[in-house]
Amino acid sequence: MFMEGFTGKMKFNLLLKQVAFLMNVPYISFIMKKLILICLIFPWLPGRAQQKVSSDSIREKMQWFADAKLGIFIHWGIYSVNGIDESWSFYNKKISYPGYMKQLNGFTASRYNPEAWAALIKESGARYAVITNKHHDGVALWPTKQNHFNVADNTPAKRDLLKPFYAALDKLDIKRGAYFSLIDWSHPDYPGFLKDSNRYKIADDPARWERFRHFFQAQINEINLAYKPDLWWFDGDWEHSAEEWQAAKVRASILKINPAAIINGRLQGYGDYETPEQNFPVSRPKFNWWELCMTTNNNWGYHPDDTNYKTPFEVISIFADVVSNGGNLLLDIGPREDGSIPAEQVHILKELGKWNRKHAEAVFGSLPGLPPGHFYGPSTLSKDSTVLYLFLPNRSAGNIMIKGLSNEIRDVEVVGASQHLKPKIVGKISWSPVPGLVFIDIPEKLKDQYMTVLKVKLDGKLKLYRGHGGLN
Ligand code: GLC
Repeated sequence: MFMEGFTGKMKFNLLLKQVAFLMNVPYISFIMKKLILICLIFPWLPGRAQQKVSSDSIREKMQWFADAKLGIFIHWGIYSVNGIDESWSFYNKKISYPGYMKQLNGFTASRYNPEAWAALIKESGARYAVITNKHHDGVALWPTKQNHFNVADNTPAKRDLLKPFYAALDKLDIKRGAYFSLIDWSHPDYPGFLKDSNRYKIADDPARWERFRHFFQAQINEINLAYKPDLWWFDGDWEHSAEEWQAAKVRASILKINPAAIINGRLQGYGDYETPEQNFPVSRPKFNWWELCMTTNNNWGYHPDDTNYKTPFEVISIFADVVSNGGNLLLDIGPREDGSIPAEQVHILKELGKWNRKHAEAVFGSLPGLPPGHFYGPSTLSKDSTVLYLFLPNRSAGNIMIKGLSNEIRDVEVVGASQHLKPKIVGKISWSPVPGLVFIDIPEKLKDQYMTVLKVKLDGKLKLYRGHGGLN
């Protein structure tokens, strides 16, 4: 009220002064001003939805997820018929909508072998799998009762594709995840359609939005009752607010039926963990649990023209870095329309699995490792923090160095090679509490094909010196 008569600019400057006061700084720099202005104008930009779920309230149910480290993401849908971008190809007008939907006629699942999929996932070392139940194109992989596109009624596949897959995962003790797009660009009551045209505005026709809301929530309910996913992987929350999606209600209705279900962070603040996508975080994300979702080439779905595959070495390097930073990797594969999985993707999963089997103790159930500055590479800790695992980057061997380790070392072993090594301590001043440097020489012949891991047994819980050198 008291701001009546103030111009927009005056109000903004007043706001800046208040922010400066709250931040306890004398003034706000030009760049900060721009950032604040951007956040005010575009409140939905990254960091948009404030986290509504407290870590302590979910810690117990998150434990399996924290220990799991690796999940496999599966993008399977009618887009694999032409091998084009999932849903986005019609939205971005690379193909007409009718042209895109014609792919319904070519989706056969004729060589679909859900047991073989589950076995491959197991072999990779993954502890959970997330499959696209429905992408933004609205085509469900299960026979939805909601009178909308689905593979059982509208494609030659003619059956529920989720049920046998989830059963196969269950048999191998792999947790079951459901990717569900909140966006449904095919639904006549959904406002969004193509990049430059919407069907309507919610404000102009709230009853129509209400119909859509009823529809998508009913679909979630169907999945929840039929398959009881251990994990929900929502996508597309950015098109509407928490209020519009009724995110709190969606969360509550899932948990009512399945209280232990984990919900990813794409539900406008009502999820349990962060989901950075493709772009690797450089510093450790702040939120307790996080998962990097990443493609094996550059696309989520089957894309035969995309041969830009990451090598097993690159995937393992990324995976080690993720785990070192306390996250999970959700590595994507995109099967063909017939259900076969491209050989390059099978190769990556198998090689990753081979490395995981050898180094399981350093990866699964581990804690994030050393903060930056102590060792030039990823690292993890055993649950009780008495064993430090060092991952040697760049296929290296030779003399490695650890800084600021206050513990005494009881033993050093090359994981999977049952060879013990002797550390050398240099630069230790006997009367100073500052620890010396640890050097460990790793012979070339003990090098792993992809990434060697050292197991360093400590005399107790990890203790680090974080000072600036000198005598104390
Ligand atoms: C993006 C894309 C979607 C993809 C998803 C996977 O949100 O919209 O196509 O399925 O990332 O993380």
